[in-house]
Amino acid sequence: MKIFVGQPLVEPSTAELLAGHTVVTGAGNLPRSEWPLLADADALLPTPRERITPEVLAAAPRVRIVASHSVGVDHVDLAACRARGIVVTNTPDVLTDATADLAFALILAVARRLHEGEALARSGTWDGWKPRELLGVSLQGKTLGIYGYGRIGKAVAKRGEAFGMNVSTLDQDGNAEDLKRFLQKVDVLSIHAPLTEDTRGRFGAAELALLPRGAILVNTARGPIVDEKALAAALHSKHLFGAGLDVFQREPQIEAALFGLENVVLLPHLGSATTETRLAMARLACAEIVRFFAGEPQLNRVP
Ligand code: DGY
Repeated sequence: MKIFVGQPLVEPSTAELLAGHTVVTGAGNLPRSEWPLLADADALLPTPRERITPEVLAAAPRVRIVASHSVGVDHVDLAACRARGIVVTNTPDVLTDATADLAFALILAVARRLHEGEALARSGTWDGWKPRELLGVSLQGKTLGIYGYGRIGKAVAKRGEAFGMNVSTLDQDGNAEDLKRFLQKVDVLSIHAPLTEDTRGRFGAAELALLPRGAILVNTARGPIVDEKALAAALHSKHLFGAGLDVFQREPQIEAALFGLENVVLLPHLGSATTETRLAMARLACAEIVRFFAGEPQLNRVP
């Protein structure tokens, strides 16, 4: 079988599990210049950076399985896959703790202004301890709002409880009134919903205005769930104390207005980026392909 892998993965994954197959690895992003490599591929193993569109599928007429190296599958046109009878799988569970850790790292970084403190310490201009220097906000006793209470949302909730926070949760299917009530009582909003047509643009100016003044927003899910321009305005006006973003509306582009703000921490989509986790994701995606061609049931089939 020929398997097209979107970009180099953490090994040993393809080298071990796909040995015996022909593995062709792209350079990432799946530019049109790589599409000829898909012509005789039997399986695709994309990362969130390679969009599997109807046009890509048309360039890959033999493909029977798309095993995504991610839990999110918004980069895969599921309807187009379904129409062709292509099986789609993802990699949940193995990245839950790493992503929850990063979400909480962002919550702490924003609340305690780590990026500003680090910049001051490195600047050579710090002249000593001051009672009023770079004051952050305490998390203990505050309300952590988890939007999207799936595996990762639950893992972040556990971390919040360990830090003495009260946890409030709302699933993405909550109605407008539920969302309003939820946002009005949240001090730290952490987003963990998948990107769907329902969640796209869910947090715009009106929703951000419902958060109490001084709230923190952290997004480690998908960028388009938050309107970045509205967020930049809420940060600029200091309605929000700060924000931590690991994902962006038009990734890898980042809204220019965010760069000039001191109260935002920006990371390049690192949620699952530990060696252990990325290896487990890579091996799970490879295993799905091996199982598929062996006629065994998939471990994580996306409906
Ligand atoms: C995912 O898996 O969907 C993340 O965004 C990348 O780890």
